[in-house]
Order: sequence, then structure tokens, then C-alpha cells
Amino acid sequence: MRFTLNGLPVETNAHPMARLLDVLREEQRLTGTKEGCGEGECGACTVLVDGQSVCSCLVPVAQVEGARVTTIEGLHGTHPLQKLFMDEVGAQCGICTPGMVLAALALEDNPVPTLDDVRTALAGNLCRCTGYSAIYRAVLKWRAEADSGPHAAPEQASARHK
Ligand code: FES
Ligand code: FES
Repeated sequence: MRFTLNGLPVETNAHPMARLLDVLREEQRLTGTKEGCGEGECGACTVLVDGQSVCSCLVPVAQVEGARVTTIEGLHGTHPLQKLFMDEVGAQCGICTPGMVLAALALEDNPVPTLDDVRTALAGNLCRCTGYSAIYRAVLKWRAEADSGPHAAPEQASARHK
């Protein structure tokens, strides 16, 4: 099976029903994608498939054949939203953070999201540490600052494996 991972073509011999989460973490060594519940409840394993956020613990790798998969590594740690999560202390233990950031990218086309929009975009992502306010603040600031310049689309970023 072949798919595009953070802008680069990859091939896997994993079982077609292997979880995308496991292929990413164990075969591709992209450990930025986290496992929390393993059953689609927490959002820690969120990645983008063809630009849509999905729980990679629920996706068989066969389902991404030919698709574009973006993990947090695809943002290179340079996406403005990642810096704002740090500035606003939107990350504490950090387990939820990669999934939060990727899920929030759904708001990229919304120039002025409301707090409710942010809550809705992140409704599938749980955080045990922050109380959410700092996360919402980071996302709202990101959109408010977005007017001052374009941001790189995650799909344009190339892979950086650890
Ligand atoms: S680990 Fe996938 S939703 Fe929790
Ligand atoms: S920062 Fe720990 S779960 Fe969100």
C-alpha cells in the first residue's frame, strides 16, 4: 500500500487492517501522533487525511491508500499555531497537543471564528491538563493574527521523521 506522508511517498507492508496510528508510530517512527483511549474518544491520535481530521486509532491503513496523510511532524514545529500553544501555555503534559493543533487547522478557512466555533472544532479532542481556556485562546489568536500574513499549508510540508 502506498500513500503520501507529510509530502513524501511511502510504502507499507503492514496488514491492511493495521491501525494507521500503529503504522505511523511503529513503522514510520512518527511518534508525535499519540495514543490515548485507542477507541475514538479522546482525539490524541488525530491526523489529517486529505485535509480532514481523523482519529488514526480507528482508521485501517488500507483506508489511506493513495491519500495524503499529515501528522504533527509535517508542520515542522514552525506553524504559527504551535508557537501560540506555547506562548499561551496551551500545552502542559502535551499528550493532547498534536491532535489539538491538527484538529484546529479545520478553522484555517475561517477568518474570524467565534469561541463556539473553536469549541466545536475541538469537541473531539480531550485535554486532562489545561482546562481548555489557554487552548481556545491560542486558536483564537492564531486566526486573529492570520490576516497579517499567509501560513504554509500542512500538505506542502515535507516529512521530518524522528
Ligand atoms: S487514541 Fe484515538 S481517539 Fe483516543
Ligand atoms: S496538555 Fe495534558 S492532556 Fe492536554
